Amino acid sequence: MLNDDQLNSYHKHGYCVIENFKNLAQCQLLQQRAKQIVNQFSAADISIFSTREQQRNADDYFLSSGDKIRCFFEEEAIDEKGNITVDKDLAINKLGHAMHQYDATFRHFSTDQKIQKICRQIGFKDPRLLQSMYIFKQPRIGGVVDIHQDSTFLYTEPMSVVGFWFALEDATLENGCLWGMPGGQKTPLEKIMKRKKNGLGIKFQQLADNQYQEQDFVPLPVKAGTLIMFDGRFPHFSKANRSAKTRHAYTLHIIEGQAQYPEYNWLQREDKQEFPSFEQLLAMDAL
Ligand code: FE2
Repeated sequence: MLNDDQLNSYHKHGYCVIENFKNLAQCQLLQQRAKQIVNQFSAADISIFSTREQQRNADDYFLSSGDKIRCFFEEEAIDEKGNITVDKDLAINKLGHAMHQYDATFRHFSTDQKIQKICRQIGFKDPRLLQSMYIFKQPRIGGVVDIHQDSTFLYTEPMSVVGFWFALEDATLENGCLWGMPGGQKTPLEKIMKRKKNGLGIKFQQLADNQYQEQDFVPLPVKAGTLIMFDGRFPHFSKANRSAKTRHAYTLHIIEGQAQYPEYNWLQREDKQEFPSFEQLLAMDAL
């Protein structure tokens, strides 16, 4: 559970930091499992993940990954001919987007009693686990993630998404820790990413121009095992990792089941199942 300071920070600044939320063994278990998934992955299924919006356009591999476990590779790890230029397990950018449901190790990590309690504490009535990502932020080639609000990508009415960001390794200024804008959750949602009507590709609907300035952001370097949780409108980014160290992180996004989930969100389940509750995920292990 969050203590009073953490809860106050969450409401006032849009985020809070909870050290030692997971122990090192739990972090390592997730890292080992991610490595196995990458090693089992077929190179034929490669898709380059880029934070550049235009490259994400029309990427069906991305758009159909909402109810699957897929591997996305670093832009700089692939040459013009589509060959991987570094070791496969160093070329991977992220895994997404349903490990929390379909992988037992990730499911166990994501259904922690403490996460459930925090959800209740911050006002969720019917928390639903929408999306998971394992972010590798590779040494030297780990790319920039530009300033954004997660509600842009995971929109509900009313807005309800909360991001849970777990450092699986120490995240430092050198290896591309998270940066956030305290109080920035009070700025309007700047844009919504929408699926095009024909289902092919995405577009952005601009709602506001928040003119974020980097000087308003603070770095959030944290030790392995720390949870940073933040509001869906909390603006955040991370710089490139030019260091020799990895910066593995796991993110989980939870929405309110009673909120409306529009059809134009990029994340639509091809299996047409509802987004799972904690109880539904825990029941999968009881089978
Ligand atoms: Fe984000």
